Amino acid sequence: AVERTLSMIKPDATNRNLTGKINAKFEEAGLRIVAQKRIHLSQAQAGAFYAEHAERPFYGELCEFMCSAPIIVQVLEGEGAILKNREVMGATNPANAADGTIRKDFALSVGENSVHGSDSPEAAAREISFYFSGLELVG
Ligand code: CMP
Repeated sequence: AVERTLSMIKPDATNRNLTGKINAKFEEAGLRIVAQKRIHLSQAQAGAFYAEHAERPFYGELCEFMCSAPIIVQVLEGEGAILKNREVMGATNPANAADGTIRKDFALSVGENSVHGSDSPEAAAREISFYFSGLELVG
């Protein structure tokens, strides 16, 4: 089925001008960018987006990092987009990421790992609506 998934290009990647190279990997994999904007999260917004991780030891560091510089938030659309995006990103820890994936090629560490992608249809629906209204999704 055609799906939509929420993607973020994180501060480590925007700081290094990697937005275009990362978007090229999405497009080469058949994912269409149907919405995209550059924003700078506040601490409170980062905390709300990652609320499910509030009890994890890395939560504070994660929220600090995500509001340290601008990010790109985007909606990717395609056949099986949620899983396909996770394949293009590679494993969360770049040390475990397969060759050719975004995290293998660009990520610096498990925290500074260049991209985020929704991990389920439920997460995708919640995360897309966190950043975008229906009018902003142009398929
Ligand atoms: P993401 O897909 O954005 O979802 C939660 C993020 O937490 C994850 O990517 C990692 O970047 C980050 N994360 C996971 N484990 C750690 C860790 N041990 N230390 C720092 N950040 C982590």
